Amino acid sequence: MTNKYTYFIANWKMFGVLSSLKLIKKVDFYLKKIKNKNFKVIYCIPYTLLNKYSKIFNSKYISIGAQNCHELDTFGPFTGSVNSKMIKDAGAKYIILGHSENRLNGDTNLIINKKILSSLKSKLKIIFCVGENFEQKNKKLTSKILYNQITSALKNVKKFNNIIIAYEPVWSIGTGKIPKKKELEKNILIIKKILKNKYSKSSNIKILYGGSVNSKNINDLNSISLLNGYLIGGSSQSSKKFIDIIKKSYM
Ligand code: PGA
Repeated sequence: MTNKYTYFIANWKMFGVLSSLKLIKKVDFYLKKIKNKNFKVIYCIPYTLLNKYSKIFNSKYISIGAQNCHELDTFGPFTGSVNSKMIKDAGAKYIILGHSENRLNGDTNLIINKKILSSLKSKLKIIFCVGENFEQKNKKLTSKILYNQITSALKNVKKFNNIIIAYEPVWSIGTGKIPKKKELEKNILIIKKILKNKYSKSSNIKILYGGSVNSKNINDLNSISLLNGYLIGGSSQSSKKFIDIIKKSYM
């Protein structure tokens, strides 16, 4: 149970067709019943669904976002690519950038920086993912990795009110494993310290946790007051599992 304003961001990954709309409708139906709308739900969905879903779900408490974009904000000869302007034009308000699954596909810190700058120019709000992998964690490199990811990707960013950071340890994504409370708090504080030292205007940045969030671990996670919400993959692909997470947080 939590009293603070909380983000529940669904990362659908490569999931969803037009008829999956019913999943969000079920969640929306449930959300309407919660009196205290002290939360924000954002569905980050495939490009193919952005336009249709944005027309239906762009309310105060439920919004639509994309999961990646091309680094340029102009049109160009990039077969299969979609840029931030096209995403904004389709109706989305948010975008996930720097997700580890896209880092594995070639997104370097430099490319992520370009994507962040282009998305800010296109007036999208950014959910920027950072986090160490298992090997880096074992070698105690987490703080160095976080520093590099944050300072490279936020280079030349002047305003931070449209940026949310999602701390997602790579080893916890889709594995059922989450960091121990102490470790998670320590890493969130590291992120806060990097932000404070490097960017004087970043004090209001919201920090979320992502990686195997489910209805069983949500109570423990909600006890971490440093967190402003969650980026939820697998459990967001089922309306029941997603509602259970929100229910446990608010009821
Ligand atoms: P997961 O994914 O909840 O399935 O671990 C989280 C994410 O990749 O954002």
